[in-house]
Amino acid sequence: SPTNAFRIATIPGDGIGKEVVPEGMRVLEAVGRRFDISFQFDEVDWSCETFKKTGRMMPEDGLERFRTHDAVFLGAVGWPDVPDHVSLWGLLIPIRRAFHQYVNLRPVRLLKGTTSPLAGRGPEDIDFYVVRENVEGEYSEAGGRLYRGTEDEIAIQEAIFTRRGVDRILRYAFDLARTRPKKHVTSATKSNGIVHTMPFWDERFKAVKADYPEIRADQYHIDILTAHFVQHPDWFDVVVGSNLFGDILSDLGPAVAGSIGIAPSANINPERDFPSMFEPVHGSAPDIAGKGIANPIGQIWSAAMMLDHLGHPQAAQAVIAAIETVIADAASRTRDMGGKANTAECGAAIASVVAAG
Ligand code: NAI
Ligand code: MG
Repeated sequence: SPTNAFRIATIPGDGIGKEVVPEGMRVLEAVGRRFDISFQFDEVDWSCETFKKTGRMMPEDGLERFRTHDAVFLGAVGWPDVPDHVSLWGLLIPIRRAFHQYVNLRPVRLLKGTTSPLAGRGPEDIDFYVVRENVEGEYSEAGGRLYRGTEDEIAIQEAIFTRRGVDRILRYAFDLARTRPKKHVTSATKSNGIVHTMPFWDERFKAVKADYPEIRADQYHIDILTAHFVQHPDWFDVVVGSNLFGDILSDLGPAVAGSIGIAPSANINPERDFPSMFEPVHGSAPDIAGKGIANPIGQIWSAAMMLDHLGHPQAAQAVIAAIETVIADAASRTRDMGGKANTAECGAAIASVVAAG
């Protein structure tokens, strides 16, 4: 089967999403020329802007349209005049759930040329992955509100942990650790305070870990774990957590590794029954949108994760190496990293390093 021609569902979205996605495409075209990979970008305008015109974040048949694509490449969605739960539950969450993207993967890596807000830390100290459960857990629609607006008002929110859902995310984390030199998995728990779902999570962690005797495994309660991210980032290799704990850790992780503008993420369907989705960690940044100054590196690094997923790890590595080369030179950095380059200049610099090889 052909493995070097890909159809990419492309959703720039809102705000700076529309500015950084073209830079991601530019770098993909450049790396494609070098490694003989071709991309067909099928671009749609699904966004808050579209919502305001049509009442929908995406058309009714939207998911169906991209079901057989090789990947989804997304910028950011969200805008101040549309409630965030509308944009999130109208686009991102349906894609993650319908396409069974039950792994949210975020590399936390201090790239050469960036400085960590943690004093005295270099690239050798910060290099791990956060693996977040992406479709169940604490983020559920189960629950309800009773006696609204009265003194007796009640809100109930149920967390859903299934053996199938917990085991597969834990296995993904152990399988990932197997590919890495440190071979170490850390589980985020809170079984002292959350007495049903978290002891269950710990039991499944213990059961799954028995299948991976070569992997070192440990666990911490989420509260002290956040402190360790700051004080001992060098302790970690692969950190796995539920939807809520993973959400928190996957923002904290990139924060200790430098600018929000460079952090990438992947929403993965490991079985490859459906497309996986690649997007920067940051949002639509209304405060700087339209100025052409957004950092495109989070989007470009997400493109590298997409290349990796599509079976082109060398091309992925070439993109990351080009990012490191370009940010070593202050003149090519965007303002959030202390430079003066605009979005397109930074993207073009990375594309030309990639092309040169
Ligand atoms: P944000 O990530 O958009 O912005 C936070 C801060 O970081 C802002 O000061 C912004 O200027 C800066 N920033 C973000 N990306 C940058 C980049 N590439 N280069 C330079 N500076 C950058 O988060 P915020 O403000 O909380 O959310 C704005 C909107 O984005 C909201 O509607 C939110 O719901 C949405 N959002 C969407 C996400 C997604 O599509 N996955 C993720 C996070 C937020
Ligand atoms: Mg988050």
